[in-house]
Order: sequence, then C-alpha cells, then structure tokens
Amino acid sequence: MSRIAYVNGRYLPFRDAKVHVEDRGYQFADGVYEVCEVRGGRLIDQRRHLARLKRSLDELRIRMPMSPAALGIVLREVVARNRIGYGLVYLQITRGVARRDAAFPAPEVPPALVVTARALNKARNEALAAKGIAVISVPDIRWGRVDIKSVGLLPSVLARQAAIDRGAREAWLVDKDGKVTEGASANAWIVTKIGTLVTRQADHAILRGITRAVALDVVKALALTVEERPFTLEEAYAAREAFITSATQIVMPVVRIDGRPVGDGRPGPVAMALRQEFHRYAEAG
Ligand code: PDD
Repeated sequence: MSRIAYVNGRYLPFRDAKVHVEDRGYQFADGVYEVCEVRGGRLIDQRRHLARLKRSLDELRIRMPMSPAALGIVLREVVARNRIGYGLVYLQITRGVARRDAAFPAPEVPPALVVTARALNKARNEALAAKGIAVISVPDIRWGRVDIKSVGLLPSVLARQAAIDRGAREAWLVDKDGKVTEGASANAWIVTKIGTLVTRQADHAILRGITRAVALDVVKALALTVEERPFTLEEAYAAREAFITSATQIVMPVVRIDGRPVGDGRPGPVAMALRQEFHRYAEAG
C-alpha cells in the first residue's frame, strides 16, 4: 500500500508529496511541528497537541492554516488513508513560500501545512521498554526558546547522532550550570534514592511535553512525590531510576547514563508503573 501525505490542501502519494524550494521551513526552519501517538487507530491527546501547536504558532506570529477542528479532520484522514493502527502522525506548519528574505513576507503569504503518518512496531517498542535504553550527556547548545516546537532541530540531530555513535539511543542535554534540561527529543526524569520523582520545570529551557503533562497526572493519581526542578548529571548518575517521556516512546526507562548503570541497571518500578497506567489518563480521540 502506498503512503499518502497531506500537502497544502491535497492528499498525495508520497512520491508526489513535495514542497516549494522557497518554503521558509526549508530555508530558515521558520515553522513548527507536532507529533501525536496513534493507538488503536485513534489520536492520543490531540486536543493538547493542537493547543501547544497554536501556542508555538502564536509565539512566531504564524497563522493557524485552519481551525483546530478542521485540522483534526485532516489528521484523522491521513491516519485512515495510511491505515495506521499503531504509529504516529506528524504535522508541520511553516510561514509559507516567499522570496528569500529573513524578515516576514509582506504582504503575508498563506502558511504551508504538511501532514504525514507512519506505523510503528509495537512489539519492538515494548521489547525496548522492557530492556530500557542507554543515554549519553552532551552540552545543550540549543537556542533560548525551545518551548516553541520549532523545526530548527540541528542541535537535536547532532545530539541524537552522538548518542548513536556511542552505542546509546538518546542524548540528555546539559546546560551551562551542569543541569539536565531534557533529552534531544524527549523530556528527562529521575527517581531519587528516597523515591522522589524529579523533572525540570516547564520554562523556556525545555519543551512542555504533552506526555510529561499526562505523566504528571499519573504521578498525582498514584500519590507519588514529584519535584519540578532542575537536576544535575551527578544526581542522575546516583538516581534509583531514570526515564524519558515523549509521544512516541510514552515512558521509556533509561538504564545507563554515560555508560554507568542507573540503579541496578534494569527498568525501575516507577517508570514501569507510569508506562502501564499512562493510557488511562491520556485522551483518545
Ligand atoms: N519529540 N522534548 C523535546 C526536545 C522533544 O522533541 C519532544 C518530542 C519532547 C516530548 O514532547 P511530547 O511528550 O509532547 O511528545 C520533549 C517528538 C516526539 C519528536 O520530535 O519526534
């Protein structure tokens, strides 16, 4: 079956799914994106993802190309046309197509919208979660507004590749003060020796993950103790457990940081409980 993408108003086979050379996403990374999990053919937490999308767009003064309701229909249509049971849907909005000039196009041009979807291997993800993943630490060299989900992801690209090159799967980014901000493409969490969950507060230095927000709901429902504050790499090395959260990985245990085992080097009970409970608290649309 051929994959279908939505590109600026049309559902197209992948080979025809193309954007203009002067799309500002291509030339300036002048755009934003969202990734939603698809599970049982349904979009998980679509409402919150579209709310964050709207916020990212507002921060960059890019118009929503259509209402959230209409966008929801496009997302579902792309999922259906690609027959995705379990996987992800990706959407990207850029400031549109205009002659290359850093300033916003004047007069304004219509924003460009692309939506794709793809299946993920559920068994493989579950096997990965049962084993846990390794992460490395790298300096956080990103810009000062990573709370905006911009497509300018070069530092994340380099961090992820550094992780792969060193036999790990994800990179944890460390700021000038030696504090972990988040992963290259996920939020970072630890469980301290006394059982307190710690994850950085959602300021401008991290992306306010939707999975992070739902995981916080689960944490509260399970009456666990949580602190939203920065933590150091040393705290992470000494942690009882560590894990990451993102739409495609949900709660993924971290069992090694920079080659050192976390706790006993196996996925911990808190991470597994959060992973287990997660979809009871997420919205399925
Ligand atoms: N990544 N932090 C960063 C830097 C991210 O790129 C992501 C998401 C998250 C987690 O956000 P959420 O829980 O809303 O997925 C945190 C997506 C999945 C990606 O880039 O593919």
